[in-house]
Amino acid sequence: MTVTHRSRILGVGMALPKNVVTNHDLAKKMETSHEWIVERTGIETRYWVEPGETGASMGAEAAKEALANASVDVKDVDLIIYATLSPDFNFPGTGVFVQRALGLRDIPCLDIRQQCTGFIYGLSIADAYIRTGMFKNILLIGSEVHSTGLDVSTSGRDVTVLFGDGAGAVVIGRATDDKHMILSTHIHADGADAEILWTEYPASARHPRISAEAMAERKHYPTMEGKRVFKHAVTKMPASIMEGMVTNNLKLTDIDMMIPHQANLRINQMVGQMIGLPPEKMHNTIMKWGNTTAASIPMCFYDAIKVGKVKQGDLICFVAFGAGLTWGSAFVRF
Ligand code: UT7
Repeated sequence: MTVTHRSRILGVGMALPKNVVTNHDLAKKMETSHEWIVERTGIETRYWVEPGETGASMGAEAAKEALANASVDVKDVDLIIYATLSPDFNFPGTGVFVQRALGLRDIPCLDIRQQCTGFIYGLSIADAYIRTGMFKNILLIGSEVHSTGLDVSTSGRDVTVLFGDGAGAVVIGRATDDKHMILSTHIHADGADAEILWTEYPASARHPRISAEAMAERKHYPTMEGKRVFKHAVTKMPASIMEGMVTNNLKLTDIDMMIPHQANLRINQMVGQMIGLPPEKMHNTIMKWGNTTAASIPMCFYDAIKVGKVKQGDLICFVAFGAGLTWGSAFVRF
């Protein structure tokens, strides 16, 4: 028997820590300025957790809102996919902590690690599971706590000013018509440049996993070759968008809203210009939330719905690029 269900996004939710951190706050801790950060990245504020707020707690909060907006009872969730680069603990994965916070047991929890492209990979996995008929309602969560792992001294300023904490979630279920469905997902990776954006320590590949020497060299903080990452992003994101448009036989004018990963406002503006997308057809939230990695797309999508830029039935293009390197796109009729 061939089962050919299609999937759709049923509801969206998000959560933020309480504590807002301005560029001026950062300038008190390191040599940077509001002007530099805004000019190079567009970021004005980001939110950083305080003790008690975790990836799982924010993920659960976002999930509850997504379920309410989807009108799906939590007991009808068949699978949790949790995308992050900042798991709450080394192991087990954070998905089980979200499951517990939601009062669920027994259903599978799948943690995935594709950094800024995590949400697109998660959509692709959820779509494939629903197409086979294996699962009916899937909770996909992107949640990140960067702030507890950032170098807030001047030596970490190129990375630290970019990142924010937060969570976004969607409920993915079966489509009942072709007006609301995930049309396509395209996912890619290339490990050739895996170390241009990474955190080396602690690592099971190192003996010992962490040491005073490694910490003295600040190797437990994320490092990035910013210009190389930037160049990859403005190459791979337009290519991913084109790949989805060709697959779905779409014109640029068919897209109602582009929801790109929020790494740098300048990257997104350049991608828009390269493909000829009118600026009003792209939504950005990096100015207020910074780069929240796997959470950035569902958070940006939530915001676009909230401010009335996206409505049911609209054709949405999600596109992302991140460490790995990884990249991809998804076209969705919401
Ligand atoms: O989501 C994951 C993917 N990540 C990305 O997509 C990020 C991609 N890269 C970028 O967005 C940009 O490369 C950055 C925003 C990170 C940096 O911008 P840039 O224009 O590439 O600056 P740069 O790294 O070439 O640095 C220019 C100068 C340097 O000083 P000197 O050597 O010219 O004296 C840096 O030390 O700016 C300095 N700098 C800063 N100054 C003030 C670097 N970070 C800061 C800072 N505040 N936060």
